[in-house]
Amino acid sequence: MADNIYPIYDRMMTRADKEQLLGQHGLMIWFTGLSGSGKSTIAMGVERELHKRGILCRILDGDNIRAGINSNLGFSAADRKENIRRIAEIGKLFVRTGIVTLACFVSPTNDIRRLAREIIGEDDFKEVFVSTPLEECERRDVKGLYARARRGEVKDFTGISAPFEIPENPALELDTSSLSLEESVKRVVEMVMSLEFRV
Ligand code: ADX
Repeated sequence: MADNIYPIYDRMMTRADKEQLLGQHGLMIWFTGLSGSGKSTIAMGVERELHKRGILCRILDGDNIRAGINSNLGFSAADRKENIRRIAEIGKLFVRTGIVTLACFVSPTNDIRRLAREIIGEDDFKEVFVSTPLEECERRDVKGLYARARRGEVKDFTGISAPFEIPENPALELDTSSLSLEESVKRVVEMVMSLEFRV
């Protein structure tokens, strides 16, 4: 066909084939929240719990993405958007291979999160807002970045000198200043298990 410029797609095995093999559907769980809010810690707990249940997962976070494929990007609005665009494209490959993918990125604006949702597709995208307040993230200051941002040594720091927009309609909201790690993990696992995503 003249309009089919990617004929290889006709011969590649499909997402359904992969999902059949794994016995599960692919899904993106997109964690958004301030630095230090607990996104990666919760995602690691969720990965362990789902793994125990025989569900194949993959975590994407700053350490494995910003250090590698996105090492040329900083924290300007344009770079953050490109960061998230690439992550969403990579995430889409995992999701369409049938893998439960957990993305842990600040992803600070509605615009950026909408882009990720559009790339991955509404049906496969669950947004989890880790809503731990700024004061608590700053109190924890695991990486010492809030102190540096307050001293003006890190510019465009989310929550201090760059914006974080509250997500409009997350599937789940978790405030780790009032919820235990176990409880946060349990809520995400329950959401996943309620999706009838076993094949
Ligand atoms: S995003 O805004 O583009 O989604 P991403 O999640 O990849 O951000 O990276 C955020 C992490 O980078 C933070 O947890 C923090 O450790 C580090 N970081 C370094 N500089 C900044 C900054 N200016 N703003 C936010 N996070 C920063």
